[in-house]
Amino acid sequence: MAKKKPLVVVTRKLPDVIETRMRELFDTRLNETDQPMTQAQLVDAVKTADVLVPTLTDRIDSALLSQAGEQLKLVATFANGVDNIDVDTANTRGITVTNTPGVLTEDTADMTMALILAVPRRLAEGIKIVEEDAWSGWSPTWMLGHRIWGKRLGVVGMGRIGTAVARRAKAFGMSIHYHNRRRVPAPVEEELEATYWESLDQMLARMDVVSIHCPHTPGTFHLLSARRLKLMKAESYIVNTARGEVIDENALARMLDAGELAGAGLDVFEHEPAVNPRLAKSPRVLLLPHMGSATIEGRIDMGEKVIINIKTFMDGHRPPDRVLP
Ligand code: DGY
Repeated sequence: MAKKKPLVVVTRKLPDVIETRMRELFDTRLNETDQPMTQAQLVDAVKTADVLVPTLTDRIDSALLSQAGEQLKLVATFANGVDNIDVDTANTRGITVTNTPGVLTEDTADMTMALILAVPRRLAEGIKIVEEDAWSGWSPTWMLGHRIWGKRLGVVGMGRIGTAVARRAKAFGMSIHYHNRRRVPAPVEEELEATYWESLDQMLARMDVVSIHCPHTPGTFHLLSARRLKLMKAESYIVNTARGEVIDENALARMLDAGELAGAGLDVFEHEPAVNPRLAKSPRVLLLPHMGSATIEGRIDMGEKVIINIKTFMDGHRPPDRVLP
């Protein structure tokens, strides 16, 4: 008799090619609406699914997991970040968690580099001036930004994405500095000619551009606090394509308004999809709607990772991207 296919519940619309493949492989229940599931739908999902495929817009917290049925054995998130998932509780309840690392690295690094280039050169302001037909002509002293060539980039969190950003920034003539829990291997430091700063505070005080690449964990919540932001130079810039919670947004908005920081490029926010109104009004920012990894290729790669994780797990093996508590 044919083996029963596992019931896989997917919380958001995924690329067509991924949905098709999932339907072939599993008993798949898709969310065709591309709206986040309601809490009631999520509860129903954890009560019935063998495998749940959430995304970063779903809160898979202990309250939800406590309602999961015995059959739920795998949460295979369609995301790199797992800060929306209570991995400890999942583990205690015997539920494996997997994510999609690696395949978003280059796309997110490209978007970060775009912000590192665009913010000091005031791209958002320039575009607005042209769009609003408010350009009265070229002037030697008008719309001046800062060059990044020859400047210092401070990478906070030198994992895959931080390293990929550093490679790009080096090619643009920036010197590379980083703060990380551990030093990266010597060959990587040598390749990037990177300087390691054990003290984040000391690094922040010396950088021209700071780029955030650490995950959001209880330990990194508001890592860039009001006190730390104040250590940065008034003519420096901050870029965040990681998680909004890592920066104290209110403090950042206050400092931008006061001219105590030159500008910010933010792809992520503390309360997405809400954007801090003070930041939204600031002329010194370039704000994007969490699209750092948003490429067609990247989303398909993420979906393929999800499928491989589910398939490997269902075949009785350890999935390649298991997230440990
Ligand atoms: C992730 O997968 O964690 C990214 O933030 C998506 O852009």
